[in-house]
Amino acid sequence: MSKQHFETLALHAGMDAAAHGGSCQMPVYQTASYVFEDSAHAADLFALKKMGNSYSRLTNPTVSALQERVAALHGGIGAVAAASGLAGQMLALANLMMPGDHLVASHRLYGGTISQLKNTFRQFGWQTSFVDVADLDAVRKAITPKTKAVYAESLANPGGAITDIEALAKVAHENGLPLIIDNTMASPYLMRPFEFGADIVCESTTKFLAGNGTAVGGIVVDSGHFDWTQNDKFPLLNGPEPAYNNINFAREFGKMAFTVRGIAIGLRDIGACQSPMNAFLTLCGIETLALRMERHVQNAQIIAEWLSQHPDVSWVGYAGLPGSQYAPLVKKYLPRGAGSIFTFGLKGGFEAGRALVQNVQMARHVANIGDTRTLVIHPSSTTHSQLSEEHQIAAGTGPDVVRISVGLEHPDDIKADLDQAIQKGKKARAA
Ligand SMILES: Cc1ncc(COP(=O)(O)O)c(C=O)c1O
Repeated sequence: MSKQHFETLALHAGMDAAAHGGSCQMPVYQTASYVFEDSAHAADLFALKKMGNSYSRLTNPTVSALQERVAALHGGIGAVAAASGLAGQMLALANLMMPGDHLVASHRLYGGTISQLKNTFRQFGWQTSFVDVADLDAVRKAITPKTKAVYAESLANPGGAITDIEALAKVAHENGLPLIIDNTMASPYLMRPFEFGADIVCESTTKFLAGNGTAVGGIVVDSGHFDWTQNDKFPLLNGPEPAYNNINFAREFGKMAFTVRGIAIGLRDIGACQSPMNAFLTLCGIETLALRMERHVQNAQIIAEWLSQHPDVSWVGYAGLPGSQYAPLVKKYLPRGAGSIFTFGLKGGFEAGRALVQNVQMARHVANIGDTRTLVIHPSSTTHSQLSEEHQIAAGTGPDVVRISVGLEHPDDIKADLDQAIQKGKKARAA
């Protein structure tokens, strides 16, 4: 059969009904372990001489279906599902980094990722330099002999900056490094970073993939394009692995080295596996990803245009608005729409922003994005509160910023709810 389209893969990839008792929907394999055929089979699985299920911390059929489906949607060759988006990021870097190693990352990232890279990974001796990845000279200058990857978000949370992936990939590759792209805010429906030269994609499946706020999860997808043997920077993939009789993953598994190590070492030893139930819920979500994303971006465009005309709104940072500084990048990277999450500021500043999230009645005031429902938050007092004000502003989450994740409600109802919340805040400040 010719290569299937995105909508078809979203329903069928990774699911062979005959392998699952003829089940039409992917079953939830709610089991911790798997019966070995015999002792030789057990020994072969543990030595990676054979692939198969032994224990659900490493592999599980429902989780494997999710991995295959997301890999197919991205045009990748393999994927590792994780307990959360942040767990996936950790697994990706744990395939590359040793103590003393270094990462060059965009300074416009989700606040949780900045904290993870800046604070927690320091405990492992992993250092990160945060730079403006639109400034390619700054990226070049930040790379050291210890650098193992360049890291950015395709569409940054929450400021909506769009990364010029092709240009950044070129700089990474000139230095023998992979480009890792967090594509959570776009989802594979709006953007497939591998088509522009990215090597690894990380996504929080908690957001658009699961789709309706039911399951926390993450995934790391490998394009299969990066040659881990091209230099001596990646001994974890191209060197003896003492935990498996000194096998060399790159030699043994070729293009699948990153994915196999992510499971055989990453999931086995870090243990941040995705539960089968969450994988099932995410598979169900992915079935409607294309339809939802179409409506998400349609609604976001309507709400962004309406807010930009609103007398109490000082600015709207939606890349899909005419005149946005990101218009050329939207055209190139996000022709189907600039996502459905963006930030805006109210003329009343910090207090007005906080009042809006306090006073919405239909929209939910929560720390999440990519739900079917409209969600709002005031990042500087919540998701990005661990950052200094300077870092907040650099990340696009200064004190006056409200983030909205536009949902699938009728746009008139979203406008009515936002407007009543703005008016209520105004009245309270005037009193
Ligand atoms: C862009 C981005 N990446 C990663 C994450 C982390 O995902 P999770 O909450 O599933 O760990 C988030 C969470 O909001 C995010 O917005």
